[in-house]
Amino acid sequence: MCGIIGYIGKEKKPLQFIVKGLESLEYRGYDSAGAACIDPKGNLFIKKVKGRVKLLEDLIKKTPQKTNLGIAHTRWATHGEPTVINAHPHVNADNDIAVVHNGIIENHFTLKNELIKKGYSFVSQTDTEVIPHLIEEELKHSLTYQEAFNNAVKKLEGSFSLVVIFKNDPKKRIYAAKMDSPLVVGILKEGFYIASDISSMVQHTKNVIYLKEKQIFISDGISVNIYDLDGNEVHVKPEKITWNVEKAEKKGFETFMLKEIHEQPEILKKIARMRLKNKKIIFEELSLSKAYLKRVKRIYLTACGTAYHACFLGKYYIEEFTGIPAEVILSSEFRYTRPKLGKDKLVICISQSGETADTLASIREAKKYGSKVLSLCNVVGSTIARESEGVIYTHAGIEIGVASTKAYTSQVMTIFLLALYLSEIRGEDKDLNKNLIFKEIRAVGDKISQVFDNVKEIKKGAKKYFSYQGAFYLGRHFNYPTALEGALKNKEISYMHAEGYAAGEMKHGPIALIDNNFLVFCIATKGQVYEKMISNIQEVHARKGLIISLATQGDEKVKRISDTVIYMPYIVEELSPIINIIAFQLMAYYIAQNKGCDIDKPRNLAKSVTVE
Ligand code: AGP
Repeated sequence: MCGIIGYIGKEKKPLQFIVKGLESLEYRGYDSAGAACIDPKGNLFIKKVKGRVKLLEDLIKKTPQKTNLGIAHTRWATHGEPTVINAHPHVNADNDIAVVHNGIIENHFTLKNELIKKGYSFVSQTDTEVIPHLIEEELKHSLTYQEAFNNAVKKLEGSFSLVVIFKNDPKKRIYAAKMDSPLVVGILKEGFYIASDISSMVQHTKNVIYLKEKQIFISDGISVNIYDLDGNEVHVKPEKITWNVEKAEKKGFETFMLKEIHEQPEILKKIARMRLKNKKIIFEELSLSKAYLKRVKRIYLTACGTAYHACFLGKYYIEEFTGIPAEVILSSEFRYTRPKLGKDKLVICISQSGETADTLASIREAKKYGSKVLSLCNVVGSTIARESEGVIYTHAGIEIGVASTKAYTSQVMTIFLLALYLSEIRGEDKDLNKNLIFKEIRAVGDKISQVFDNVKEIKKGAKKYFSYQGAFYLGRHFNYPTALEGALKNKEISYMHAEGYAAGEMKHGPIALIDNNFLVFCIATKGQVYEKMISNIQEVHARKGLIISLATQGDEKVKRISDTVIYMPYIVEELSPIINIIAFQLMAYYIAQNKGCDIDKPRNLAKSVTVE
């Protein structure tokens, strides 16, 4: 997720004006920034920095530009490390087309290879850089800039929005396109402001145009023309906005955590689109060879906190889909366990931030004993990503809430896909019903949305239970890690004491804690452990524990033995952890809200634990 801005109008210092606006978009990403305009001599003026927008502002101040047209960008790296070269705007070789972009161009590899065959050369590692070269190529076969821009946009696949300026456009217009990624036009007194969301424009105007999907916006600063991709002019009614900057950054949600919980359907759909191509699983960025992965004899998974729970699922998936034995080790314990490492023992680490000191220490230990390391990270170019032989990005977008939500479900989906990928390249996928699995992967996003339909029940439960002192979260097999993660969410943001347990473990001691003051969250959605879970719920029920169960829609049996039931949509049990955890994220959220906790910044916690 990046922040993009375009401007055309009569501001005295437009470049400073739009770069200032980037500050309000830094919550979307801030590893590098850049801006471009057509300077008074008609040349393309461009400045880029590695780091925060403030650095760019200082640079621009030194070189004020009199211009009426500019674009700017603050980056959250998805393809290519955070460097000046990879920062936006990106330009073509003749430096007369400049582009800023948010989202992912999913067919960038194909386009790049086609353009290289036509003689274009690339300087960055980004997917974005195909855009200016593609527009240049389209200009050779088009009568107008609009036609070239429109034809180029039609060739791009994925969810993205972009803004472009041309040095040689006689009408000096600004061009923008919205393809499944937010883009809003602010109507100024004299001119137009176009940005990823309203947070950067709300102090300048309350009149906005929300561009719709697959729409092209072109303006010369006086008139505005909006088209569909077939070139038909369309009218989009301006609207009045009521949000302030703070609300806009959270897209109207009261906290970043709630916004990020609600981003999960789109993120999981995007991951499915990116990773599943014609019944094959694609990890473009994976540099570990298939030959090596075929030789791997054992896999160790290591991480901390929420990422550790994703590793747990990774173990179950890898052992279910491949013949490789897999072991999960907490990163902070890794160095004491002396795992039998070596060249055919792969260490997989999972880390949202890519900076967690314990996890970094464990991968350094692994490499010291000759193992290769594959990391699943959410931050491109992070230390863990750079120190691993192979990296796969989880593409959750920037996660501001300290309690991890969308990063977790992205990690689980990514490790699930990696286990399938390993089974495929090792020829161990013969018994897998790939059609069903691929269908279910693509359905995850919509099924998460169905959980949101139950939010009333979840809020009711949170209101009923928020003052209790203690809770167990019980699950089995694939949903044992869900129990661990659900308990962690509750602990982290509501400070309620909560323990995740393998349900089968209760009778070996913990059940002594159960009485009518003890909450027990039970995961009893349909799957091979369903009957066993019913027995565990009955054990708790017999001891008067307060039971909140997750059950598959229509299940009356669980309802009869539970105090509260939250119904979940059916999905194959391997993927049920991604759906079930949504209910626990929301339950923890509303328990914390009832307790008046600081949900985005819980006490004692940091977003990235860079100390051991
Ligand atoms: C998650 O809700 C926590 N904030 C924490 O457990 C986190 O998962 C852990 O610190 C690991 O962080 P990482 O994924 O950035 O390595």
